[in-house]
Amino acid sequence: MTGMAGVFTYRNNELYCDQVPARRIAEAVGTPAYVYSGRRIAARYLDFDRALGNYPHLVCYSVKANSNLSVLRLLARRKAGFDIVSGGELFRVLEAGGKASRVVFSGVGKTSEEMDYALRSRIFLFNCESESELRLLSERAVRLKVRARVALRVNPRVGAKTHPYIATGREEHKFGVDMAAAEDLCLRAQQWPGIRLAGLSCHIGSQIAALAPFAEAVGKLVSLARRLQRKKVPLEYLDAGGGLAVAYRGEDRPPSIHDYGKKLLQCVRGSGLKLLVEPGRSIVADAGILLTRVLHIKTTGGKKFIVVDAAMNDLLRPSLYGAYHEIRPVLRNRRREVVADLVGPVCETGDFFAQNRKLPAAEAGDLLATFTVGAYGSVLSSNYNSRPRPAEVLVEGRRWRIARRRETLRDLIRGESLP
Ligand code: LLP
Repeated sequence: MTGMAGVFTYRNNELYCDQVPARRIAEAVGTPAYVYSGRRIAARYLDFDRALGNYPHLVCYSVKANSNLSVLRLLARRKAGFDIVSGGELFRVLEAGGKASRVVFSGVGKTSEEMDYALRSRIFLFNCESESELRLLSERAVRLKVRARVALRVNPRVGAKTHPYIATGREEHKFGVDMAAAEDLCLRAQQWPGIRLAGLSCHIGSQIAALAPFAEAVGKLVSLARRLQRKKVPLEYLDAGGGLAVAYRGEDRPPSIHDYGKKLLQCVRGSGLKLLVEPGRSIVADAGILLTRVLHIKTTGGKKFIVVDAAMNDLLRPSLYGAYHEIRPVLRNRRREVVADLVGPVCETGDFFAQNRKLPAAEAGDLLATFTVGAYGSVLSSNYNSRPRPAEVLVEGRRWRIARRRETLRDLIRGESLP
């Protein structure tokens, strides 16, 4: 069953995460709660590593998808690299025991402070997105008496079919340097004292369910790298970004990690370039569920609403992208289904997890699970409506532990002061 990823299964009509009954976790830590399968996350990371075989490569997990320390540690232990977009993410990676020498720093707006922090930590690679950024980085590095290894992020002008908010590879997007301008910029930037131009990078978007756009983008980067190498720019790395889609619905059939890897290798083989990838969603998405308890059932205006204790502040994807997440009961004890909206307590009409959907005919007190929320779930949560953020739990086989405790009321006002 999709979204179940082989780790979420029903035994005697009760939902398990690996060997642990979801109900037991909900009873112990309360709801809402995110629950992750450590086994699944590790397996997906290893799938990427294996898919690139013995071709020189580094799989840099994109921290933004799920930055919980326990998730990062689990990957660091398996020698993963990390793709970060802020000083905060670098801090998390280092706290979790990740190696700076396997960190790539992406993002269109790095500050001098973030650059200094990353330079002092001796990260592996900066993915730079503009001339202005390259100049600043060179300056900061000279000041710190170091040299930054840099890949220029180019915009390969590849349109990939995905939600408009998460498409990044077209000319109208803010990301990267134009293909046309990249060559000249590389030739000039090569002379700057604080940086060493060592590669090219791209990222064409997220939740991309076809392989052709990846191949097109990487193909363009390889040709550009060849032109630059002929002009004596010694490029060593090609970073293909992230973006591989996952299955949110039963009928979704995204390409496998294996086929994705094979496709990338076809494009880079013979180029002499080492390959980096930055997968986020495809490593963690289907390893996570959000447990929530039904508070009330109400009918108004002829419409049925199931009101649960999780809301858009806990899981924003349905509200922000109109994203679809499967919803299943934790105890499969009611056979009936109803068409209803599943909504949270937040005071916004946009606070919904499902609209006009056939859902388990739940009653107040029932537990429900929202699937495929391991990526861009907890990380997008907020305290809106002064709601403490949910607990996060990591399951490893038959054991589980709290990876982040539920926030308290005190946490809500931390840092605030009265005159
Ligand atoms: N590398 C770069 C430079 C990125 O900007 C991203 C994602 C990734 C890697 C990882 O992409 P992934 O493998 O996860 O697709 N909040 C949105 C997704 C935003 C993605 C932003 N960039 C969502 O919930 O769908």
